[in-house]
Amino acid sequence: TMADHLRKYETLFTLTPQRMRIIVESFKETLELGLQKPEQIVPMIPTFVFGWPTGQEKGDYLAVDLGGTNLRVCLVTLQGEGKFEISQSKYRLTEEQKQEDGQKLFDFCAQCLKTFVDTSLADGSLSLKSGETLPLGFTFSYPCYQSRIDHGILIRWTKGFGALNTEGHDVAEMFRTSLAKYELPVTLTALINDTTGTLIASHYVNPNAKIAVIFGTGCNAAYMEKVSEITKINDLGIPGDEMMGINCEWGAFDSFEHEHLPRTKYDIIVDETSNKPGEQAFEKLISGRYLGEILRLVICELIDEGVLFLGQNTYKLENPYVFDTAFLSLMESDPTDELLMIIGIFSHFFAVETTLAERQFFRALAKLIGRRAARLSSCGIAAIVGRMGYLDNGERCDVGADGSLYNKYPGFADRVHEGLVDIFGEKGRKIVTHRAEDGSGVGSAIIAAMTKTRKEKCL
Ligand code: BG6
Ligand code: GLC
Repeated sequence: TMADHLRKYETLFTLTPQRMRIIVESFKETLELGLQKPEQIVPMIPTFVFGWPTGQEKGDYLAVDLGGTNLRVCLVTLQGEGKFEISQSKYRLTEEQKQEDGQKLFDFCAQCLKTFVDTSLADGSLSLKSGETLPLGFTFSYPCYQSRIDHGILIRWTKGFGALNTEGHDVAEMFRTSLAKYELPVTLTALINDTTGTLIASHYVNPNAKIAVIFGTGCNAAYMEKVSEITKINDLGIPGDEMMGINCEWGAFDSFEHEHLPRTKYDIIVDETSNKPGEQAFEKLISGRYLGEILRLVICELIDEGVLFLGQNTYKLENPYVFDTAFLSLMESDPTDELLMIIGIFSHFFAVETTLAERQFFRALAKLIGRRAARLSSCGIAAIVGRMGYLDNGERCDVGADGSLYNKYPGFADRVHEGLVDIFGEKGRKIVTHRAEDGSGVGSAIIAAMTKTRKEKCL
């Protein structure tokens, strides 16, 4: 029966508290290694964002945000006292744009920015004196090595991107080339990751925020580290007691070696059929890009075994990535006894009929996969919290969070919190995630403002 099958998947996808604590320990060692030595699998990237914002940052800034579900262009007005206003436009990238030549991709971003700036100038939401340029923050959410705030060498594409002639190149310089092509009145002053932006933006509105996590197409975190602890950059002569943001790129945890994480055979197929086999091992168990595909692979196995959809044509379910992670959210939130939403998903998108027992099974399966993702994320958060001693002395630790999984998947945040209690016991309740509104856009504006102040003070 479906219930017997479910038991098997329960065993495969369930993470015990004990197992989680073991993962946290190896995670901590990995974080430490990344801070000590250059070019590690989890690169622990120094962001050259120094310290927290004061909350008094002010002014108009433009932001381009590439790397999530949408390409966004924003105009952010920082008003000080942790307040801001933002107006934005969103654009969707096609699969081709993600794989074609990188310069073309940046040209497209510049073109979108051009449209946005022209519209904003026309409707008066933006005004510029002649010859004036606006500072632009570029949120580019892929791993980049930085040696200053306004440049970055792309280490590798993640999340299914593969645009040519970009890995190993300075993406800030490439984007500047595109901006010049469209004669935009802007100066690219900061290149940042979405996690770094979210970290700074969260702290701007809530000084208890110490960590930022993105749960979206990808999964990653940033936090603030003491420069003396980032031993791999000791030779740069930055005072050891300064603080610098670290973009962990934790999605890469356990890549290639696959020693620490409990991967099922479905996870292995997801990995091996991806454009980057071996890479982003942690992210592939967690992020929105992959959860639907994991569930689809289980369904396909049961079709092959003759358990599901006997006698029906299931070809629509057989294409990789057709089962969107949004379907898991919908299945979990179906309020009806008959699970009418699940009927709808399978009949409308995949042209198959389902029994109630099957629908209950699918919902339970979504829950297992979603819960595992949340609990693995807790392990990453716990590793940072443990490393930094954020819970010492009874202190609380707020975590700024963004991304479609966090914002749209029912119960995701609660499961992360539950996981933290499983790891830390009762004191785990002091770690609380909060939605970071427009984190990346606002964050890049604040960082641009902080950079300006730092330059003026010649720091
Ligand atoms: C958006 C941020 O809200 O969330 C982006 O502006 C971020 O910077 C994104 O990359 C992550 O979520 P998703 O689900 O769009 O990948
Ligand atoms: C991927 C990217 C990382 C980003 C994350 C969330 O893990 O490599 O840079 O922060 O996705 O968008």
